[in-house]
Amino acid sequence: MKPEKPTETSPDQGAGTGDRPLWREEFSIYKADERYVSRRQLTKFLTLTSLAMFAGNAWILVKSWLRSRVTYPERAIARAGEIPVDGVKLFEYPGPEDQCILVRTSEDRYVAFSQKCTHLSCAVYYSPAHHRIECPCHEGYFSIEDGSVLQGPPTRPLPRVVLERRGTDLVAIRMEAEREAR
Ligand code: FES
Repeated sequence: MKPEKPTETSPDQGAGTGDRPLWREEFSIYKADERYVSRRQLTKFLTLTSLAMFAGNAWILVKSWLRSRVTYPERAIARAGEIPVDGVKLFEYPGPEDQCILVRTSEDRYVAFSQKCTHLSCAVYYSPAHHRIECPCHEGYFSIEDGSVLQGPPTRPLPRVVLERRGTDLVAIRMEAEREAR
């Protein structure tokens, strides 16, 4: 039996109106309705895509905002003069799992970095002979001055621990963000 087209609702009068069920409008068996249905589907698709993109961008914004609000503890990690020139002290910062290395590079200068190589996370060490930080795993070298890469395979600098001298104490106050590292 040939299906009859309902007369109370035309495609331009809106979806799911009257007694006509929505599924009949979505999957119309009438040729004249096809263009209307595909146009409506396209509009729906574009609307949903825009919403998804908006939600994605909002999430990225929230995440970067949260990251910018990270606070670091202030912690005394050594006393000035505790280690000799070219000496090293290991410490944890900012968390108990985050191993760092403090190096006294001259009478009055101390630098500290994360001890985790930015290539594959091997523990780096200080080489006084070469005056640089070295990674034993794949011979990655970092500058003792600022943690920048001197020789690959690492491509990112070592995160630096910012130190402050308070009396005789050397206090770690924060980790330098990756984008700040030079
Ligand atoms: S893990 Fe350090 S160079 Fe590969």
